[in-house]
Amino acid sequence: MTSILVLNGPNLNLLGTRQPEVYGHTTLADVEADCASYAKTLGIKVTFLQSNHEGALVDAIHAAKGTHDGIILNAGAYTHTSIALMDAIASVEVPAIELHLSNVHAREEFRHQSYIAKVVVGIICGFGAAGYRLAIDAMLGHLKDAP
Ligand code: DQA
Repeated sequence: MTSILVLNGPNLNLLGTRQPEVYGHTTLADVEADCASYAKTLGIKVTFLQSNHEGALVDAIHAAKGTHDGIILNAGAYTHTSIALMDAIASVEVPAIELHLSNVHAREEFRHQSYIAKVVVGIICGFGAAGYRLAIDAMLGHLKDAP
């Protein structure tokens, strides 16, 4: 069965109450439940993780090698700063998609830079919580087309 890791970085545990005008009112628990029910309809497995700690995210990416077919990563602010996360993705040979709830390109200049973008298959941003389902669809499409 196809297995996808959905990995969320710092401050995403506060979804629903954190700047709702930017990130919406949906909580991370809501997103997780929606991914789980979507996975069920698709007949795939989705594992959902969140950490505020860069090293824990690196560890989760390492652990994905051989256990998951793809990674969907909302690295939060680490997107814009973390060479360690970029290197981790590049090292494990598991295809990854970068995800953001907000349209980072319509926001502050510092959010336009992404280290993660250099090592992923593609990027989904600006669609709020619906982006997680879009990313699952995109990952399945990628895995189907992959040689
Ligand atoms: C975010 C965008 C990042 O710039 C920000 O630091 C976040 C959330 C998003 O989902 O829109 O924490 O990744």
